[in-house]
Amino acid sequence: MKLDISNAINFIETKNFEKEHIRAIEALKTLKNGTGKGSDFLGWIELPESYSENEINDIIKAANAFKNLDAVVIIGIGGSYLGAKAVHEALKPHFTAQKPEIFFAGHNLSGNYHHELLQYLEDKDYGIVVISKSGTTTEPAIAFRLLYNHLKSKNNPKTIKEKIIVITDANKGSLRKLSNKEGIKSYVIADNVGGRFSVLSPVGLLPIAIAGYDIKSLLEGAILCKKECLLENDTNPSIIYAAIRNQLYRSGKKIEMLVNYNLRLNYFAEWWKQLYGESEGKENKGIFPASASFSTDLHSLGQYIQQGERHLFETNILVDDESDSPIIPFDEENLDSLNYIAGKKQEYINKTAAKATIMAHVAGNVPNIIINIDKINELNLGKLIYFFEIACGISGYLLDVNPFDQPGVEDYKQNMFKLLGKK
Ligand code: PA5
Repeated sequence: MKLDISNAINFIETKNFEKEHIRAIEALKTLKNGTGKGSDFLGWIELPESYSENEINDIIKAANAFKNLDAVVIIGIGGSYLGAKAVHEALKPHFTAQKPEIFFAGHNLSGNYHHELLQYLEDKDYGIVVISKSGTTTEPAIAFRLLYNHLKSKNNPKTIKEKIIVITDANKGSLRKLSNKEGIKSYVIADNVGGRFSVLSPVGLLPIAIAGYDIKSLLEGAILCKKECLLENDTNPSIIYAAIRNQLYRSGKKIEMLVNYNLRLNYFAEWWKQLYGESEGKENKGIFPASASFSTDLHSLGQYIQQGERHLFETNILVDDESDSPIIPFDEENLDSLNYIAGKKQEYINKTAAKATIMAHVAGNVPNIIINIDKINELNLGKLIYFFEIACGISGYLLDVNPFDQPGVEDYKQNMFKLLGKK
């Protein structure tokens, strides 16, 4: 993983960046010492190395026990689903059906989504992984009630517990009660790990293993990145990224777009948006995290990015790998005039589009940060996850907010409960 800020650094004063960089090193020290805001929630820093071989093997064993099912539904919202969804979407084939099929539920309240899911599952042998740290979040609670009810109607009451796994708090909440009462297998989300920082715990690891991906390699990537991203030095990429994005913010660039040129990374951007949005957006401060998938969105958002209000910067995740790309064929007639690129890999054209876009956007006053990975695999996803998490902690401290709480999320819930007549 390589971080390149050469297309962003010229938009800010060198002396300001140097000062921010020093502050970012201090912020990392605060994070590591546990002396900053929200320090009760720093368990995620050690997560990649916190599991024994036996614990990881137990997760893999539990995942394998679900492998013969037709489908597995992962229930959760926010940090309790986005990490797993991001890795799953990044690694799954675009078109080939998987066994078991993986579905997500309880990440929305849409009636038709859950209606169609229940209909689809009618003749399927399926299992459920229900994830909620608090065990009280309305969206997953409703989905679980619907699906548990459905599963009960189709299964022997004595064996149904073999088709459910609960991931929740060690002691509190309704899911813990259910797991204790029914003897349902469970995993614990540690008190000191917040939802959006929990992908490298069973919250992410179990669904990712069920989908057939290598969680040991994911953790290995995170461990490799941890070695680099906890160093209090000039070359630590998390420090550099946190420093530059905060300087860009202070210079009026209020929106950061995470950009990819590979549809597989669309949900990684959703995970990233939650990580940064919930961690930084408070006290009337914070960069607004947005995302785009190019070149698709160049034909929708491209005009704004090039010439709209100049309050944007972009962080690109670029993938070097060209291995599974078609080659543009030569055509005798050349009616489409594409023979000038005949013999080139489509991915080469995609990369050229990336180069051309970055040049155009930088010329249009949009700073561009570039992160390169050689390919999309578990190892690199583990690195990216850890890199962005550490940078997020540092960034929050540079903004002087508590990056580990989310008090604003409560407001809509209170209104909804009132409107629904909850006592
Ligand atoms: O990052 C967070 O803490 C939140 O996004 C939570 O993950 C989300 O609200 C779901 O909460 P819970 O796991 O308690 O159901």
